[in-house]
Amino acid sequence: MSEHEIFARLKEIQRQGLEALQKVQDEASLQTWRTAHLGRSSAVMQIFSGLGSLDKELRPQVGQQANLVKQALESAYAQREEQIKAASLQRALTSEKLDVSLPGRRRPLGRLHPATQVLNEICQVFVEMGFQIYRSPEVETDVLNFELLNIPAHHPARDMWDTFHTTSPGILLRTHTSPGQIRLMREACPEPIRAILPGMCYRYEQTDASHESQFNQIELLAVGKGITFGDLKGTLDQFAVRMFGEGVRTRLRPSYFPFTEPSAELDVQCFLCAGKGCTVCKGTGWLELGGCGMVHPVVLQNGGYDPEIYSGFAAGLGPERVAMMRYRIEDIRSFWANDLRFLEQF
Ligand code: DAH
Repeated sequence: MSEHEIFARLKEIQRQGLEALQKVQDEASLQTWRTAHLGRSSAVMQIFSGLGSLDKELRPQVGQQANLVKQALESAYAQREEQIKAASLQRALTSEKLDVSLPGRRRPLGRLHPATQVLNEICQVFVEMGFQIYRSPEVETDVLNFELLNIPAHHPARDMWDTFHTTSPGILLRTHTSPGQIRLMREACPEPIRAILPGMCYRYEQTDASHESQFNQIELLAVGKGITFGDLKGTLDQFAVRMFGEGVRTRLRPSYFPFTEPSAELDVQCFLCAGKGCTVCKGTGWLELGGCGMVHPVVLQNGGYDPEIYSGFAAGLGPERVAMMRYRIEDIRSFWANDLRFLEQF
């Protein structure tokens, strides 16, 4: 090949390469182009490998020119690559377009069960009054649930609590939170106690609108020197004020529980009719909140406290009862029926 022919050839190589590159539209054909026009067996590379067979004085010029062609092809390649990438990004952006103006999907938010809400609220009131929270088990022994609370086996008082017994003799589901009193006293003795014991209780009941086989209770226990019935009344009054508002009235009706002496039933004035009598309080003007009394000497003794030195008061409140009054829930079975239409209202 003459010098002239070689330079023409190089020019043609460059022209063809650039022309072919114009047709390249995607990543795959770009790579094919690269192999064809810049690869080891490409036309421009063949010029390099043929340099040795050229006249010595021609080699530098041809080599230089071939380099320019190679560089031109390389930079055209880089440019094209850039364009193709930008184009494919653009395509992705339009085809996978996100409509950011579309409102997000709300995650369904859970909430606390209405019984738990009221339970927490009652606990909060007592915590603010200086009571500590004590947890005791739902699976209990007959001894703690009854005997140590001054309710011997075969005593008629046992009729007050229809019990779920387990297949293990002497093990049952607690019928009230009161057995926690013994556990706590035995742990704390001889220190003074001011505590609440919230939790689930179970009874073998025929369920109806006002009876459920499971429900929460909040046990109240204060033990110390010189604790009086006045302290009990003052505490319950203060609780009622904090829970139901200033001016609410309470009353204690004489009652009987084997583990308290004297015993009473706590009523609060109906918050709906302010004592005038309505459907919620069934015309009486009063709502029943739970039992209470002075801890029986036998119970104090069973807890490790000498009843000659120590005294105490106790109470058992029903948070579901409070929730039923507050939200005018007419059927206690609604609480554990797990009907979302009911639960979602709270
Ligand atoms: N444990 C009783 C019940 O479930 C409620 C009760 C009454 C608890 C009087 C007490 C109390 O602490 O003093 O029927």
